[in-house]
Amino acid sequence: KQPIRVLGIETSCDETAAAVVEDGRIPLSNVVASQVELHKKYGGVFPEVASRQHIRTIYAVVDEALQKSHLSLRDLDAVAVTRGPGLAGSLVVGMNTAKGIALAGNLPLIGVNHLEGHLYAAWVRRDEHDDHPEPQFPLVALLVSGGHTELILITDHLQYKRLGGTLDDAAGEAFDKVARLLGLPYPGGPAIQNAALRGNPDAFSFPRARLDGTWNFSFSGLKTAVLRVVREFEEKQQSLPVEDLAASFQAAVVDVLFAKTLQAARMFKAREILLAGGVSANLALRAAFTGQNEFRVHIPDLSLCTDNAVMIAAAGYYRWLHEQRDPLDLDVLPTWQL
Ligand code: KG4
Ligand code: ZN
Repeated sequence: KQPIRVLGIETSCDETAAAVVEDGRIPLSNVVASQVELHKKYGGVFPEVASRQHIRTIYAVVDEALQKSHLSLRDLDAVAVTRGPGLAGSLVVGMNTAKGIALAGNLPLIGVNHLEGHLYAAWVRRDEHDDHPEPQFPLVALLVSGGHTELILITDHLQYKRLGGTLDDAAGEAFDKVARLLGLPYPGGPAIQNAALRGNPDAFSFPRARLDGTWNFSFSGLKTAVLRVVREFEEKQQSLPVEDLAASFQAAVVDVLFAKTLQAARMFKAREILLAGGVSANLALRAAFTGQNEFRVHIPDLSLCTDNAVMIAAAGYYRWLHEQRDPLDLDVLPTWQL
């Protein structure tokens, strides 16, 4: 059987990325040009700066992804691109690039939902020797990123039912905001994780919003609780116990995410659990899920948790298999729900 090769392009936020994936599971290349350094001085992603930088780098990124795959346009079967959700100006850069390539290579264009991309990262193998099994439906997925915190029931390929999500901050956003309160650099997730390594998770007892009877989350109360402690230390002119605060905050986030996901998996009789999104790179969160043996857990390779184009090509492959093709006048959808 001929392998199916999909070129993926991702520019929804602050990473310019392109990749080629074979049969939805084997990455032949994975190129990510991060803009993190560029946005650091703003303490978050600056949309205008992001789209301009995507324009500067996209051509070289796609070119490198093709070269590293040792394939040319002729060998590809489709171009998959993030259609949304994301920053409008940034999405347009990837979309236009994908259209140009589809036209030039006479390839089908496939618009992919960025969140769906994060989920499909769990299907990707490290290489052809990695034999980790395909996720089995029905699955309960916890998708935690800078913009999203969603609990999703996946009954089959491309069949999603959103169970609930955050009522205020996304989990990654909470990490980023609390990092700022603690004087840690952007992006906050990795910074808090590192500080927490040397901290005591029981030093402060921060609130865990349970929101029983719903599948929703809320992190604003937790953020406020951290702020209150920070203010107290400032008023007493004492130095902040950054490591203890980071560890205690992280423990509160992990507790809530873990408890609710497990509860949902039981309730919906899931066969397996899937973690995805930038926050699934968090080692404490990964440890909580791998530490239980009630459900098999799929977590993407660390390098595929944050934004990348391998996941977009992987999701694009499954859309391709299900005969989804998009027209060349496809629009971006900055607020597209899964
Ligand atoms: O998925 P992603 O790269 O972009 C979005 O689609 O939002 O996620 C980025 C988010 C940021 O908020 C970042 O702080 C968080 O993921 N993140 C982490 C870790 N690595 C990235 N949060 C906690 N622990 C980490 N190790
Ligand atoms: Zn993302």
